[in-house]
Amino acid sequence: AATRADALVLFGITGDLAKKMLLPALYELVRGRELDIPIVGVTRGGWTIERLREHAREAVAAHAEPDEDAFERFAGLLRLATVDYDRAETFASIAEQTPGARFRTHYLALPPSGYAQAASCLAEAGLADEARLIVEKPFGHDLDSARALQARLTEYFPEERLRRVDHYLGKDAIEDLLTIRFANTMLSELLHRHHVRSVQITMAEAFDVADRGGFYDGTGALRDVVQNHLLQMLAYLVMEAPRTGAAADILDERARALRAVRTVRPEDYVRGQYDGYTDVRGVAPGSNTETYAALRTYVDTDRWAGVPFTVRSGKTLSATATEIVAELHRAPFGYFHTACAQEASPNLIRFRISPEAGVTFDLVAQHEGDAETVEPVAARLDFTHLTGSGTVAYERILADAVSGDPRRFTRMDMVEDSWRILAEVLDSPVKPAVYARGGWGPAEAERLTEGGWHRPAQEQQS
Ligand code: BG6
Repeated sequence: AATRADALVLFGITGDLAKKMLLPALYELVRGRELDIPIVGVTRGGWTIERLREHAREAVAAHAEPDEDAFERFAGLLRLATVDYDRAETFASIAEQTPGARFRTHYLALPPSGYAQAASCLAEAGLADEARLIVEKPFGHDLDSARALQARLTEYFPEERLRRVDHYLGKDAIEDLLTIRFANTMLSELLHRHHVRSVQITMAEAFDVADRGGFYDGTGALRDVVQNHLLQMLAYLVMEAPRTGAAADILDERARALRAVRTVRPEDYVRGQYDGYTDVRGVAPGSNTETYAALRTYVDTDRWAGVPFTVRSGKTLSATATEIVAELHRAPFGYFHTACAQEASPNLIRFRISPEAGVTFDLVAQHEGDAETVEPVAARLDFTHLTGSGTVAYERILADAVSGDPRRFTRMDMVEDSWRILAEVLDSPVKPAVYARGGWGPAEAERLTEGGWHRPAQEQQS
């Protein structure tokens, strides 16, 4: 079993991810008395502990009104260490801030280009033995670079002490796919090729890349969200029930699911770029980076053979919503009028991840006063106790980083399969189709589905 960390070392504590997610999440963990170990913020100089505490207060306040007592406890755990990545001996400052610690967890909220150097400095300073290393996505930019990075990091941190963050795995509403699927026999039986005609996964964002142009332009939608968030969601939807609730069993089934996902063919991929993207600061003139990606694939398991899975994500779309829709086979001709049966919309099971977690069943019912015509009705369940929120996801991730539980991270074999699935489309030479803001992306993506994409339930309501 993994050992519980006795110090958390946070690289990149002055960065954007720490400000928006990690500091508010750490504060919440301290407030809930789930965390009481030293938290060492690592900087490259120019910071004092007072300034760091002030920075933490601002980050927390931007998220929720801080509870003074809880914030004092949080601030009391904060430490500051200053390092120079070119001089490994300066990493001794981390040890000085964590006297007596043996099981440190190092969290690298840094650009991936800095991972290997940070890991090697930690090792040189004697801070790698028995420690865990947590890295953010993306892990590599394709299969080869991911393997090369893995080789570098495992020189100092073996796989069982390495954790790769995908914050979607910390979302309750995604993890719940396992419970909802396997604890409910009415669903576990239904989610099978015998009943499901197709599956669509949509992660739509109504906002643009804002001030992240510099990062985003070298990344694009496939690498930013499809390789990780969307494929992990797909894995939760298609995996078989783990033998037990143990982390290793869950991870094994999820990995097996990804292994069964077919490599996407170039003709099953559509890319787009929103109108005005090339004017964003940090974006190269004439950039061909996709801000929208849609693809079709298949899952070669007994359960899912032959069922098309279409997956899409894009910026500046008509709504911000993440949803998985299973479309069931249509009813045969029957009791009601033949023409109606053909026109009636198919039954859909919608797993709503965000903004409001829940499940919606799209059904048909008789039209008022006329048994021969039908109309759509929706049965909507709201899981208000579950959230898809980013900071709550980071609370789970950070708590697991400290406890060592690996279930909400991406194992290396999954990373390899994710890059393999996208290998033939990652560096597509096809120019992205320019699409208008506020719509549903390039019209060409329609051809990937039979009968069109389903609009998220959320959008239909508003
Ligand atoms: C991040 C991506 O990993 O996930 C962003 O880099 C994206 O581009 C974000 O907007 C979405 O996360 P969430 O939790 O807000 O759905």
